[in-house]
Amino acid sequence: MENKELIHMAYEAQKKAYTPYSHFQTGAALLCRDGRVFTGCNIENAAYTPSNCAERTAFFKAVSEGARDFDRIAIVGNYEGKPGDYCAPCGVCRQVMREFCEPECFEIILARSEDDYQVYRLEELLPVSFGPANLA
Ligand code: THU
Repeated sequence: MENKELIHMAYEAQKKAYTPYSHFQTGAALLCRDGRVFTGCNIENAAYTPSNCAERTAFFKAVSEGARDFDRIAIVGNYEGKPGDYCAPCGVCRQVMREFCEPECFEIILARSEDDYQVYRLEELLPVSFGPANLA
């Protein structure tokens, strides 16, 4: 799958964001190695803490459907009514990625549009990390 198509799917997911508090809408599209794509949006809560990011929504949907092998994720986000900037994943979402993805392989695409994006590997965004092997 082309990055452009994955980014398009992240934008479609962003339309479903539930953000009455921050008004910052995010979308993510997570590509599995078998070609499946799981999308997610951010979902906020009046109690604030239970809010969930788009990236974790996508990961938890995927894992709960039996997917464990991931290739890359496209992320978009912007404050409503404003043109988008690159939206980097929060630290909690980076750690969730670390649980299921190889840091030197998994790619994170930060998109401002379908044609304007940056690509990072997880190890660049979460260096010197703690993962499942540390508990083995
Ligand atoms: N958010 C995400 O969904 N992903 C990110 O990468 C950064 C932040 C959400 C959380 C919250 O609903 C809103 O954006 C503002 O922080």
